[in-house]
Order: sequence, then C-alpha cells, then structure tokens
Amino acid sequence: MTTQLLDGKALALQIKDEIAGEVRRLTAEGHRAPHLAAVIVGSDGASMTYVANKEKSSHEVGFTSSVYRMGEGTSEKQLLETIEFLNNDPDIDGFIVQLPLPKHIDEQKIINAISPEKDVDGFTPVNIGRMVLGEDCFVPATPMGICTLLRRYGIETAGKHCVVIGRSNIVGTPVANLLSRKGFDCTVTICHSRTHNLAELTRQADILVVAIGRPEFVTADMVKPGAVLVDVGIHRVEDSTKKNGYRVIGDVKHSEVDPMCSWVTPVPGGVGPLTIVSLLENTLKAYRRSMSKR
Ligand code: GUN
Repeated sequence: MTTQLLDGKALALQIKDEIAGEVRRLTAEGHRAPHLAAVIVGSDGASMTYVANKEKSSHEVGFTSSVYRMGEGTSEKQLLETIEFLNNDPDIDGFIVQLPLPKHIDEQKIINAISPEKDVDGFTPVNIGRMVLGEDCFVPATPMGICTLLRRYGIETAGKHCVVIGRSNIVGTPVANLLSRKGFDCTVTICHSRTHNLAELTRQADILVVAIGRPEFVTADMVKPGAVLVDVGIHRVEDSTKKNGYRVIGDVKHSEVDPMCSWVTPVPGGVGPLTIVSLLENTLKAYRRSMSKR
C-alpha cells in the first residue's frame, strides 16, 4: 500500500498565502487589518505555545493581534469583565479564550459570555446550535481544519464509514456532525471511553479520526488496510536526542499504522497547522461581517 501524506503544513502555507493576499487587497483599499485577540489565564506551557503560535500566524497573514495575559489567580468576575471589554471593542473582530481555564473558573460560564459574533473558536451555544442546524456560523477550528484537509486533498467521503474516537465539545462531537452532513455525506460512528469492542468498530472505518488525547493509542490491529487516518493528538514526550529535549507524538502509533493507510496526517504537521489557519479564516469572516454592517 502506498501511503500518501495529508500535508497540513504545506496546505496551511498555501491557505495563509491566500488570506495574506486578501488582507493586502483590503488594506490597499484603505481598510484596517483584521484583528484577532487571545485571552490566556495562567501559564500552562502548552497553552502559552498555542497562543504564541496564533499570534505569529496572525502577523504572517497581515492581521493585527493582541494577547491578554491574566494571572493564575484571576477571578471569574475579572475574566468576565475582560470578555465584556473585548465584546464591545469595535477594533477587535474576533477573540478566543484559551482553554483549559484554572479549576476555580466555570469554563462554560466564560464561553457563554463571549459574543457569538466574535466567537471565532465557535465554542458558544449559539454557534454550536447554528452549526448543527447547518446555518452560517463559526465552526470550531480543529474540526474545520480536518474538513479542509479532506476537501482540499480530494478525499472521497460520500457514503464512507467514518469512525471518530473521542466525543469532546471541541473536536469529536463537532467533526462527527460536520462529516455526516450534506457535502461530506459520511456515515459516522462516535466511539469513546465506554465503547465496547472498540477495535472491532475502528477496523470498519474507511476514515478514522482519532481525538482521544492518549499518546499512540491507536495501533495496527485497530485499522482497516487502505483507511484514511486523521490524527488529532498532540503530546510532548521527553527525547534527549532532540535539541529542545522533547518530540511531539500523536494519538496513533504511526510507525506501525501508517504503512497500512491510503492517506495519513503526520504529527506534527498534519491537523495542527490547519487548526490555526481555520482560526484565521474565521477571524477574516468576522471582520468581513463587521465591516459590512458599518
Ligand atoms: N485548547 C485546546 N484547543 C483549543 C482551541 O482550539 N481553542 C481554545 N480557546 N483553547 C483550546
């Protein structure tokens, strides 16, 4: 079986080029650049890396950006006030509140406070409701990135059995919804920690989306030869042979699984870069909407 790469890194570069071109046209016409803001509470290492990447990518496409860094001890009330400020600032087109939040803050209460018009993560109940109804909305970035990868690489999806491992609000649940809809037309099965006979189900997958958050969880015995494999996992593991002391692995044991597949997303360089690009696309969309209202 020849295995082909769903090269997220290359596709992300191409889409960022397209966005940058659009931003150049807009600013040449005298408009301001789109602005993406991020709020981060505390100093979780992975979260800080994600936010730094979002900021870097924003600048690469010509957006302006800002980061609101708040201490670990920030109260729910203080965070709600920051969100209120961002909701009302006309120069901010979209913003995200990086998750997870410290334990003393009610995550859903914070998400509910974000204006749906600026919710470029697509996490608010309004956007999730619109997504399920098939209405125009902000789709969460990782599921949107997965859809973009499958679409732009011309992966055949209609009538295929797609098995999703993981049912999180951020990835598993929305990606299952999107791939079952008209346009993708997959038959979707969602598996999770309580699923019986998991391997029996995953072996039926023409398209296997793995978003379970466990390093190298999916092994060769769980995969049908010729499957399309999408690995959403990102885990840092110590590696003394690397300059920075770690390497990044996914939810799939790629050394044994990849040779069986028709297409795979590598880790790193698969889904990750598309997640960031999708956030940029959503921000451009928020910008266009707010400009058209003026
Ligand atoms: N934490 C992990 N993934 C995400 C994401 O896509 N958005 C936000 N805000 N936090 C995250």
